[in-house]
Amino acid sequence: MKPPRFDYYDPHTLDEALALLAEHGDEGKILAGGQSLLPLLSMRLARPRVLIDINRLIELDYVRATDKEVRIGATARQRRIERSDAARRLPLLLDAIRWIGHPQIRNRGTVCGSLAHADPAAELPGVAAAVGATFVVRSAAGERLLQAEEFFVHYLTTGLRADEMLVEVRFPVFPNGWGWAFEEVSNRHGDYALCGVAAGVRVEEGRVVEARLAYVGVGPVPVRLVEAERAAACGEAVDEGARAAAAEAASRLEPDGDMHASAEFRRHLAGVLTRRALHRAHQRTASGDRAVQAPATPPDLAAGIGDRGVTLGERTQPPLELGGEPARRIRMRVNGVEHALTVPVRKTLADALREDLGLTGTHLGCEHGVCGACTVLLDGEAVRSCLLLAVQADGAELITVEGLGSPDRLHPLQQAFWEHHGLQCGFCTPGFLTTLVAFLRDNPAPTREQIREAISGNLCRCTGYVNIVDAVERAAALMRQGRSGS
Ligand code: FES
Ligand code: FES
Repeated sequence: MKPPRFDYYDPHTLDEALALLAEHGDEGKILAGGQSLLPLLSMRLARPRVLIDINRLIELDYVRATDKEVRIGATARQRRIERSDAARRLPLLLDAIRWIGHPQIRNRGTVCGSLAHADPAAELPGVAAAVGATFVVRSAAGERLLQAEEFFVHYLTTGLRADEMLVEVRFPVFPNGWGWAFEEVSNRHGDYALCGVAAGVRVEEGRVVEARLAYVGVGPVPVRLVEAERAAACGEAVDEGARAAAAEAASRLEPDGDMHASAEFRRHLAGVLTRRALHRAHQRTASGDRAVQAPATPPDLAAGIGDRGVTLGERTQPPLELGGEPARRIRMRVNGVEHALTVPVRKTLADALREDLGLTGTHLGCEHGVCGACTVLLDGEAVRSCLLLAVQADGAELITVEGLGSPDRLHPLQQAFWEHHGLQCGFCTPGFLTTLVAFLRDNPAPTREQIREAISGNLCRCTGYVNIVDAVERAAALMRQGRSGS
């Protein structure tokens, strides 16, 4: 479960990135958030000769709103979208994004990266199909605009040419009167959908007069179903239209069956989720829910948002080798201590922490982003260190479980886990603790439901989650009281 060898470039401008793509063509692969690519590399399902890491392209880290559309640049992370005022004009996107993975995944994953990965069971392709997004793709030779049906070609396959990169996606802003909802069923919260539905309705005098419906997990590309949309807008009552749309979806979609769900079950889900999503979208037109309505006043048309939260290491380095493979000299501040080390470019951050710095409290369970055991804090955000290359942490501030507390002065979370028997073997515990440090910082008084969602990306094989949730409630109380817990 280690990435294969590759050459690594981290250009600082879009022109540099496009020149690299032009030079390497099919052998080059763009690395954006990396939350889908790193697992493929680690499982050796992808073997690019060259990795072009675009995370330093600050010029593409933006969310810009006009009264007609919201433009999202290639390096804008999903977490940023969740926190963005501009993105409030895209209620369907906000509704769908919460289904993507877990906070650790969304802290690194980008909107454009998810679209370019083109997994037909992912949420964002469904959103793009439902609203009719425009994809801005660029190469050194020029720019093209593609619509969703041109962009999504087949399983994990897009209309991007070898020398092109998705630099921006444009989501149209719908006028007030529309309500939106995203619904899905997956085996585990955060997994890809067995079936998902993106739904929107426009209501006049209580009647649905127009609808949008797009489905994920039911074929090689996201499917917009105009027959179901027409059916949804036919009935006098909302449920009449929703039932008719559900019947259309269940009869017209042609999903494949696999080890996770049969084709028949997916069709059944499509019908159930269609009704559910249409009802919720309709409620949102009626409730004036701010989370799903466009703001009355458009935000500053030109403004991007927020800081990038990316630290920059050395800009250029002479070519370096370690053990006969490409390497980089990097610097990281870990638990308050500066470190300089030379690492192969394919080495993950988890392996660098464990092998080079001896910080073995960061555990490796799955090594492809599923178990959460390797979670650390990178520039204050919880991330999975098996899904990051060590070179990507050059210049970063990191906190591992070793930096949280000490035996004679436990962190409140450690104290609470101890008090409430929140661990048995302890293998998963470092990942829970680091995940929860960031969660409680942002949510000092969480509900049990919020705690469950926060830890849904961390697997424990022996304790069970009740004691862990109890421990988190206790830790939150300790922290609100300003107590160390020791
Ligand atoms: Fe990184 Fe499992 S998520 S080891
Ligand atoms: Fe053993 Fe969680 S305490 S895996």
